[in-house]
Amino acid sequence: MKTQIHQRFESGLPSDDDHPYRSGAWRPQQTEYDAWDLDVVGEIPDDLVGVYLRNTENPLLPPVQRYHPFDGDGMLHSISFADGEARYHNRFVRTDGFVAERQAGESLWAGIAENPKLAKSDRGWGVRPGMKDASSTDVVVHRGVALSSFWLCGDLYRFDPWTLEALGKEELGGRFPAEGISAHAKIDERSGEMLFFNYGTQAPYMHYGVVDERGELAHYIDVPLPGPRLPHDMAFTENFAIVNDCPMFWDPDALRNGHYATRFFPDLPTRFGVIPRRGASHEIRWFEAAPTFVLHWINAFEEGDEIVLDGFFQSTPSPEILPELSFDQNLFRYLDLHAMGARPHRWRFNLATGECREESLSDRIMEFGMINGQYGGRPYRYSYNALPAEGWFGFEGVVKQDLATGREEVVRLPKGVYASETVMAPRLGSAAEDDGYLITFTMDMNENRSECLVLDAAAPNDEPIARIALPERMASGTHACWLPGSAPTSS
Ligand SMILES: [Fe+2]
Repeated sequence: MKTQIHQRFESGLPSDDDHPYRSGAWRPQQTEYDAWDLDVVGEIPDDLVGVYLRNTENPLLPPVQRYHPFDGDGMLHSISFADGEARYHNRFVRTDGFVAERQAGESLWAGIAENPKLAKSDRGWGVRPGMKDASSTDVVVHRGVALSSFWLCGDLYRFDPWTLEALGKEELGGRFPAEGISAHAKIDERSGEMLFFNYGTQAPYMHYGVVDERGELAHYIDVPLPGPRLPHDMAFTENFAIVNDCPMFWDPDALRNGHYATRFFPDLPTRFGVIPRRGASHEIRWFEAAPTFVLHWINAFEEGDEIVLDGFFQSTPSPEILPELSFDQNLFRYLDLHAMGARPHRWRFNLATGECREESLSDRIMEFGMINGQYGGRPYRYSYNALPAEGWFGFEGVVKQDLATGREEVVRLPKGVYASETVMAPRLGSAAEDDGYLITFTMDMNENRSECLVLDAAAPNDEPIARIALPERMASGTHACWLPGSAPTSS
């Protein structure tokens, strides 16, 4: 492997840090690398062409008071494949907050588990005052540009996906929404559009928008909600966008006093807003279903009069407070997908009758579902879902779920080895939905390293097709994406 250090940062964190989300598989990195001629066990296939991108939470400074992993600074990782070769880069997202805190040498903003009044800067972003937009949640690629984003809304930071060269912030020609854009904008690979939403504590509490294939903000509407909500993800079909109003949100009474306390309201339904993709606010159709909180959707499609939406239903969105646990341990139960009981689930919205039906798709705990991107918004058969660890936030493998037969193929990594959100990369000339590769980064605590694993999506339990060594063990994180195709000749 040949490596070049792009930049190395001083960390202000203790060298013997024992915070569960700044140590072990979550130990942050301080170094940015470019690496090529990577050591490979097996062979990188010639028909694997594109870029696997991952965002991670990677803090460098102690918090003002209490650290939560979603406060960590965004660090992107990129591995690109072409001609049977791979190249790797990692870069901090140099957000405005990151730059200001590096200059100050201390945290200037409060974290999600801290009182906003602890912030030392008046500047703020997104939904909550006093918080930094860490741009650490998601990454998507639109019009050949990688965009990192934050779950509490904020800016979109632009990167060349092949090199991770920073390209500034997305401005949308001066029309970037004042309310920011939430993580989990959706890319329709077929139309070239990017669909997005944002949310906030001021009426109408949500907006929905479309950036078209030319990069123009082509559509932006109010989505009026009954009050402030905490939607995390959206979905789309060929003709509709689907937003949600789940009954877990900041307690309105506490919010009036400036406290941001998430609470589940089991007497309220889950509401789904079905919007024609370029529709007006008055065209939103609302459907009601059993109360839950859905972190992530898998896919959606149209079938006759019905819209079918797949996602992960939580049986216990608000895990019980256990008196034997510390404050932090109870807080982090909200990161344990087993405690929340997240399982694949299907909702059907009948546009003719207004009826909503729902059913569970599996008894197995899973989340963070990925699909072959060519099937986004269209009828599909396979999802590739993370297999969550129990008791904390980490992935022990991936489950390929066949929605036609119910068959589940479980790929479980060796004990002590953790996966990233695993993408499906269609093979060049792909002839079937699962004709391609599964790609993930590992955090290998046994060997103190990270690798990129390339598995056969059609036979995921076969020996890995390639195991590609990376320069250093990376920190765990949340989301990833796959950009299919070759680099533009200019890059
Ligand atoms: Fe997410």
